[in-house]
Amino acid sequence: MVDRTIFPQPAATEQSTPPAIELLDTTVAYGAHVVLDHLTLTLPSAQIIGLIGPNGAGKTTLLKAIVGANRLLSGTIRVLGQPVQSVRQRVAYVPQRRDVDWSFPLSVLDVVLMGRYGRLGLWRRPSKRDREIALHALEQVRLSKRRDCQIGELSGGQQQRVFLARALAQEADLLLLDEPFNGIDTTTQTVIFDLLCQQRSQGHTVLLSTHDLHSVEQNCDQLVALNRRIVASGPVDEVFTAPVLRSTFGSQLAVVGDSHTLIVNK
Ligand SMILES: Nc1ncnc2c1ncn2[C@@H]1O[C@H](COP(=O)(O)OP(=O)(O)OP(=O)(O)O)[C@@H](O)[C@H]1O
Ligand SMILES: [Mg+2]
Repeated sequence: MVDRTIFPQPAATEQSTPPAIELLDTTVAYGAHVVLDHLTLTLPSAQIIGLIGPNGAGKTTLLKAIVGANRLLSGTIRVLGQPVQSVRQRVAYVPQRRDVDWSFPLSVLDVVLMGRYGRLGLWRRPSKRDREIALHALEQVRLSKRRDCQIGELSGGQQQRVFLARALAQEADLLLLDEPFNGIDTTTQTVIFDLLCQQRSQGHTVLLSTHDLHSVEQNCDQLVALNRRIVASGPVDEVFTAPVLRSTFGSQLAVVGDSHTLIVNK
């Protein structure tokens, strides 16, 4: 009942799609260290949304909170119009590369098949169709030939793409991608953005964190600028401005020329 008061529900006759993500006065802390400080944010569905901010801004913490992996000190988060616990299978999360133990003994195809597990009943093995979907996802990220390799044998960028394939195989409505372009060359980055555009055209929403300001400006519809608080959020042309970027990155940002030539000193 509390949620109904906070997030007004559409009238029963309305067929509106709920926002992909809604945060109301959300605070997240690690012990006494407040990382996300009273965030209020609404992100529309069927968009590619970039999440930008300096190291330690709380991007990973926010993505983990959305997926229900971080306890909230205060506030509420709704995902696809519901508490995340009710829609877990509809949300795919690709962690930041450094947060993954790559030494586990699984093949590339095994990892991608993990995207199907939420749809399998207890004790059920992946079906022929599950395998087909997983293989198609590997094809989409151009890694079919590596399907039998151990995941630890791949390069950083290839591992990143395997995790993206796992998210695609999940056929989720919301994809949360934490720095998906780390270690990925620009050609492959274009391939991935094309895949994300396909996701958008199917009505799915993508929220991705990145330090690549040029590519968010080029490829995202919406931007969230975060530095422990929401500095700005909205359509890219409204948020990708020199004043917002300066407030977000402070001294980490060198502005060269106009707002289209920006360098983040990592
Ligand atoms: N598990 C944890 N325990 C304690 N502190 C943490 C933990 N995870 C993150 N932090 C702290 O929370 C703050 C935000 O970290 P977070 O990883 O969310 O930032 P980020 O924006 O993702 O940074 P980066 O760009 O380096 O990935 C940092 O000060 C970090 O040290
Ligand atoms: Mg991070």
